[in-house]
Amino acid sequence: MKRGENGILAIIGLVLAAGLLKSLLQVEGQHDRDIPFYSTASADVARKATDIYRSNNCKNCHSLWTLKDALQSVPAPMLDGIGSLRTESWIYNYLSSADPQSVLPSRLKKEYRMPSYSKMPDDERRLLSEYLASLKVKDWYLEQTKKSEYEKLTGMEPPK
Ligand code: HEC
Repeated sequence: MKRGENGILAIIGLVLAAGLLKSLLQVEGQHDRDIPFYSTASADVARKATDIYRSNNCKNCHSLWTLKDALQSVPAPMLDGIGSLRTESWIYNYLSSADPQSVLPSRLKKEYRMPSYSKMPDDERRLLSEYLASLKVKDWYLEQTKKSEYEKLTGMEPPK
């Protein structure tokens, strides 16, 4: 390899390294802001509800306690912060409905839609609703959360 080519390679390498460093710093910057999601539930409610959540495969479609799950194939709304968007009684009615799409219309193919949990034991539905309603989002991230929920439900950008 000629000297000139080495120089060009070195410059390309530097540019790539600078780009990488810049994106790393940007990611760092985001982590400086604290996680916007929190729960007001007691440890007992959280533990029981998490068991119900797991055994009913909610996590196959929804994300919870992750900012973004890139591998998620079903475009279901994330449940982090849902308690800042919906009330406990709304969630309870939704989970209890024999036809959830009559409460919240779906834009998705049938197999991806929110299933009915009307057959779930009532005490479990209540506990799950209490827990989901306790999932809050901090004010600085509320608009972003509403926006992403709207996008997931409609497949469109929210109106300006
Ligand atoms: C097969 C995928 C799937 C499973 C499993 C599933 N959901 Fe859903 N869920 C959805 C989809 C998709 C929506 C959005 C409405 C629609 O398209 O039917 C939704 C909507 C919701 C909403 C309303 C969200 C909003 O933005 O208002 C809540 C709350 C919810 N689901 C909770 C649960 C819980 C709790 C479980 C487990 C007990 C569960 N889901 C299981 C797909 C699923």
